Amino acid sequence: MACLQRKGLQARILTSEEKEKLQSDQALVSDFKQQKLENEAQKNWDLFYKRNSTNFFKDRHWTTREFEELKSCREFEGQKLTLLEAGCGVGNCLFPLLEEDLNIFAYACDFSPRAVEYVKQNPLYNTARCKAFQCDLTKDDLLDHVSRESVDVVMLIFVLSAIHPDKMHLVLENIYKVLKPGKNVLFRDYGLYDHTMLRFKASSKLGENFYVRQDGTRSYFFTEEFLTRLFVGSGYEEVVNEYVFRETVNKKEGLCVPRVFLQGKFRRPPRDLSTAALYHQAGDCISP
Ligand SMILES: C[S@@+](CC[C@H](N)C(=O)[O-])C[C@H]1O[C@@H](n2cnc3c(N)ncnc32)[C@H](O)[C@@H]1O
Repeated sequence: MACLQRKGLQARILTSEEKEKLQSDQALVSDFKQQKLENEAQKNWDLFYKRNSTNFFKDRHWTTREFEELKSCREFEGQKLTLLEAGCGVGNCLFPLLEEDLNIFAYACDFSPRAVEYVKQNPLYNTARCKAFQCDLTKDDLLDHVSRESVDVVMLIFVLSAIHPDKMHLVLENIYKVLKPGKNVLFRDYGLYDHTMLRFKASSKLGENFYVRQDGTRSYFFTEEFLTRLFVGSGYEEVVNEYVFRETVNKKEGLCVPRVFLQGKFRRPPRDLSTAALYHQAGDCISP
């Protein structure tokens, strides 16, 4: 098995067969069924974890390698970082990170009660180093669990794709409140024309680049432009936003699977120092 990787700003170019396939699958799931999927999103993810327990997603050891930011966002060596993993699932990202870097405190949340329970049952779960809690990022206020402007870095890994595109901005606005000014959200998720997007059967389409799996969980495939608009529209600045193309080649079976991800880094703007100074003079207690 060989694996090639490159990064870029241009979306993947489809073959004519792939174009045809996408063009022939235009029929959308009915509004009634779409509403039901939205209402049952939490239940469907919870059932997913009931069926798959902790065995479905592989541990994501690439996080520190890919996101050098995790190390570089320290202002001084030895600084303890506070991290939030939003939509943590069963902790495939969280636990490798906690193992690799002993100087992190991590908040981790998910709306599936089962997923959160699996995180808490993991032998590496230690309340001195992490706090897992249940939270629907589109509805529940993160401030109920995490202090305002207290987080150094937020990881958003394959989570927004599971959320209806009309509600994604609610997640970003929720996260904004707990992120320190000047600090980043690290994003990785499915990109346009990923292999899995082309494998959906007819009648799985919910909208543009948005599909439903057999088990009722949904998946959105991001373009670089859409992601920029989403983050910038929620008050962030774009630092990096690019496609990651991976080609997994299985020589024995003669299979070549094109994977496309979108990887980005978006910053909550630093506080305007002159405004901060004004507030400070005015009496310290009001946060601008
Ligand atoms: C594809 S999994 C990714 C899990 C984890 N980030 C990882 O990389 O292994 C998507 C996760 O998002 C969670 N999720 C979906 N919608 C959510 C919401 N509105 N609020 C919180 N979590 C949500 C699901 O329960 C699921 O655990």
